Amino acid sequence: MASVDVGIGLLGYGTVGSSVNRMLVEGADEIERATGHRLRVVRALVRDPKKDRPFPAGDGVLTSDFAALRDDPDVHVVAEVMGGISPAGEYVRELLGAGKAVVSANKQLIARDGAELFAAASAAGVQLRFEASVCAAIPVVKVLRESLVVSNVHRVLGIVNGTTNFMLSRMERGGSYADALAEAQAHGYAEADPTDDVTGADAAAKMAILATVAFGSRVRYEDVERRGIEELEAAHVSAAADLGMVIRLVGIATLLDGAVDVRVQPALVDRSHPLAAVDGAFNAVMLQGDAIREITLEGPGAGGLETATAVVADLVSVVGTSGTGFLQNDACWRELDRLPPVEWSSEFFAHLEVSDRPGVLAHVTSRLAAHDVSVAQLVQRPADGAATLELVLHRAPLGEVSGALREISAFPEVLRPPFLLPVIR
Ligand SMILES: NC(=O)c1ccc[n+]([C@@H]2O[C@H](COP(=O)([O-])OP(=O)(O)OC[C@H]3O[C@@H](n4cnc5c(N)ncnc54)[C@H](OP(=O)(O)O)[C@@H]3O)[C@@H](O)[C@H]2O)c1
Repeated sequence: MASVDVGIGLLGYGTVGSSVNRMLVEGADEIERATGHRLRVVRALVRDPKKDRPFPAGDGVLTSDFAALRDDPDVHVVAEVMGGISPAGEYVRELLGAGKAVVSANKQLIARDGAELFAAASAAGVQLRFEASVCAAIPVVKVLRESLVVSNVHRVLGIVNGTTNFMLSRMERGGSYADALAEAQAHGYAEADPTDDVTGADAAAKMAILATVAFGSRVRYEDVERRGIEELEAAHVSAAADLGMVIRLVGIATLLDGAVDVRVQPALVDRSHPLAAVDGAFNAVMLQGDAIREITLEGPGAGGLETATAVVADLVSVVGTSGTGFLQNDACWRELDRLPPVEWSSEFFAHLEVSDRPGVLAHVTSRLAAHDVSVAQLVQRPADGAATLELVLHRAPLGEVSGALREISAFPEVLRPPFLLPVIR
């Protein structure tokens, strides 16, 4: 088979970009055997071409001039491994407009500007792929778009942020939120500024992309209901343990009667549930559909080489396929309504701090009953003249549970606003 030389451009040559080059160099023979193409990095855009690189690029490959990469006729496909919305977004638009296929590892860009970028790719007749933007090495986009194309996936549950998963696993073994964050930073799992991870922003972008692909309808980053882990206390983690559960930051995308709900929030997960076994910095995505019932994919959700695996897989897919079509381009083919958040239903866990007086419990349960919410499990603990009530509530709409808890917070014997999380079994 005659080999075809394909020039690759990289936007960025950092942790992921240099790993992509390493894999293309070290795996060149395997890629050629599989595809008949020899992929070679011919240009890579960086801020500082003089900086030392862990896997050096070839002579003359690094440039700080975007136009040199865009206008190079030897660059056929580009991997965007630079990050950020701007200038990465403008560069990707220009490259697509110039007729170059792009693969991106940039979750924030795809989750925010996907609609516009896919339209630009489609207009130019080139591919835009994004496997590496969600869960690094886990090939979940390909599984959803290709393997499960007729499976009517109606629910996606995911642990899609390794930093918070590491922190929550750490808190389970004892220690405060601050201890867990310090340890995640010491291991290099959390950045010096961990905001995107702990507020759920990183997970929300990934869940927006997964829901879009799973349901075939655009879900943007802003559409995702989001709550981070910053309010979690050691007491919540140990209360969950007493109930046979763990707390995880979970992404939940639901398609119910033609309406969609996507949320990221800490949840209590039953110890026997597959997501409870996801420990440390790993990611997992569980896909539920009529025919497939349940498929769980688990693996490393970050790291240079891990993410580069997905970038290289997308590059290989681009050169191994041609033209545009459903598999290569925009996953969306329909508009879905948004499920009103109050109608989203789940089992819930509520943690209440109350004064230790007779009748409090009856008062709380009667308010819940007034909203048709019933109690499945109850743990009451005395604490210095006060008491904590830990309630597991049967499945009920979020609006009813929140309404009841709003009324309960107004009771004089309730000392702090109740803390509410969904339960996943
Ligand atoms: N690292 C991971 O584990 C991981 C996992 C999944 C997804 N991702 C995604 O992959 C992308 C890259 O991440 P990374 O960890 O490789 O980042 P990184 O190590 O910071 O590398 C970024 C690269 O882009 C270049 N760059 C940044 N801004 C630029 C600008 N304005 N003009 C020219 N060059 C610019 C940098 O140049 P200099 O080298 O000269 O500074 C650097 O080479 C991000 O979208 C990230 O979210 C990363």
